[in-house]
Amino acid sequence: MALPATVQWNGDARSGSLLLLDQTLLPARIETLEIRELDALIAAIRRLSVRGAPAIGVAGAYGCVLALRAGGGDAALQRLADARPTAVNLRWAVERVRNAAGGNPDKALAEARAIHEQDRATCQAIGRHGAPLLAGAAGVLTHCNAGALATAGTGTALAPMFAAHQQGMRFRVFADETRPLLQGARLTALELAEGGLDVTVLADNMAADVLRRGWVQAAIVGADRIARNGDTANKIGTYGVAVLCRAHNVPLYVAAPRSTFDASLADGSGIPIEQRNEDELRQFNGAQIVPKMAKVYNPAFDVTPASLIAGFITEDGVFRAAELAGWLAP
Ligand code: MRU
Repeated sequence: MALPATVQWNGDARSGSLLLLDQTLLPARIETLEIRELDALIAAIRRLSVRGAPAIGVAGAYGCVLALRAGGGDAALQRLADARPTAVNLRWAVERVRNAAGGNPDKALAEARAIHEQDRATCQAIGRHGAPLLAGAAGVLTHCNAGALATAGTGTALAPMFAAHQQGMRFRVFADETRPLLQGARLTALELAEGGLDVTVLADNMAADVLRRGWVQAAIVGADRIARNGDTANKIGTYGVAVLCRAHNVPLYVAAPRSTFDASLADGSGIPIEQRNEDELRQFNGAQIVPKMAKVYNPAFDVTPASLIAGFITEDGVFRAAELAGWLAP
């Protein structure tokens, strides 16, 4: 079963539409949303129909076309940029299209297409640079989904796995299910299995056991925003995975494009963390699982300190945290 494109623009700037694979329904149903209005896109981003930092960036770039053709100005573009606060790719893409378009929807579409194509090529490069890190590994651990469903290409964290597999390396991938929205179980497992990789889903609380058994030699995760010193915001639970990897001497790599780095932030303390609706935790499959009297805490992301990250796999190569400031300098 080939999945439709994660994000696709159909037609010209004036009458075309944005097609999004609705990720809230996967893997049970494959449905594509056709989006023609800015508010519909903002709602789709908020409910995670399109998700993953680079994919949100590409969708946001096309969203500028929707905003501009409806006569929306800077306020409309700002609303789009603010749809989700943590992944800096969204703000980056909206800024880039805003600057290139000067209010013209045709120019906005050309720039959005360039961002889309660039992300595809970036994923390829991340795969190429990351694959050698998996040489000899029997098992690889990942958290959340940073594959084709989160980008315009083969992914960030998953790209080295796909590339290594294509080169003939054979290893197991352990995918944390990633509570509460199950991106690992629903999306990563789907993509890897479809790609012919050997994938095993773990409840989040099982990763420690798998590491202690020695089944994992490397972990790779994606990122939503990375500060100049390498502190990295990614899906809630990534910090726990990083601590576990350090305790078991397993290197944890962060795979991300340049557009996920926020050079304006010296460290991770300034990264805004999205807090999500408490019903995501209170309910499971529509059933109430938390007593009404109890409070819940539901941050979408956490920040992993750079000291726990063995390297950053980017389109320009693999960097250590101490090398990032030089790479990011204009
Ligand atoms: O809330 P989500 O599903 O958008 O969170 C996604 C992640 O945390 C990914 O790991 C990150 O965006 C990198 S995607 C290449």
